[in-house]
Amino acid sequence: MIRFEQVGKRYPNGHVGLHELSFHVRHGEFLFVTGHSGAGKSTLLRLLLAMERPTSGQLLLAGQDLAGISTAQIPFLRRQIGVVFQNHQLLFDRSVFDNVALPLKILGLRKDEIARRTLLALERVSLQDKAEQFPSDLSTGQQQRVGIARAVVHQPALLLADEPTGNLDPRLAAEIMKVFEDINRLGTTVLIASHDLALIARMRHRLLTLQRGRLIADGEAA
Ligand SMILES: Nc1ncnc2c1ncn2[C@@H]1O[C@H](COP(=O)(O)OP(=O)(O)OP(=O)(O)O)[C@@H](O)[C@H]1O
Ligand SMILES: [Mg+2]
Repeated sequence: MIRFEQVGKRYPNGHVGLHELSFHVRHGEFLFVTGHSGAGKSTLLRLLLAMERPTSGQLLLAGQDLAGISTAQIPFLRRQIGVVFQNHQLLFDRSVFDNVALPLKILGLRKDEIARRTLLALERVSLQDKAEQFPSDLSTGQQQRVGIARAVVHQPALLLADEPTGNLDPRLAAEIMKVFEDINRLGTTVLIASHDLALIARMRHRLLTLQRGRLIADGEAA
């Protein structure tokens, strides 16, 4: 579903974020991207979201060439993708339900369909009983789970996460990773950028290691 073929990203200031990156990801895979700060993890995710364009090579997502994608096509691309950030970026003046429902409202779905899918997404992260509460009523781990529910509510084929456990203690981080595994089991491809090597090693999934913009290892975590 994802094909990086010699993908390079040179930023306008001349800095090279990624060098000739090549790897493929199949439908339904679960993989991590790791590497030190500045290695290019977020750059890789931003290329997949078409927030940045590759400056060389070919990048295909579900057969679509992201180097040549037009601005008008980007909303359609993003419908296939869910994103989870380190800071979940929830709206604190809206209920948990409204936060999760937001992407569906933007898509213009019918009210009953929005309610059905929103409750389903909350069930997937075990927060169905928190729908009417506000994010400030929840723990940090619960807030992060609301962020995950919002990312999968439109049933994307691909879920991207950039340091989703960066603010959590090890026990909560492991819990969040279990949620990602549950989502993956239902068929969603999951790609997580993380520098938490201890956590990654326990999970035994495919691991891409970046170093200064180059792919230096691709295999199961040791
Ligand atoms: N907009 C930009 N303009 C110029 N250089 C950039 C830009 N964004 C990122 N970079 C550079 O590209 C390299 C890769 O950055 P990136 O954010 O992808 O790293 P990262 O692996 O996500 O790091 P971190 O773990 O700190 O989040 C870094 O050297 C960074 O300074
Ligand atoms: Mg980053």
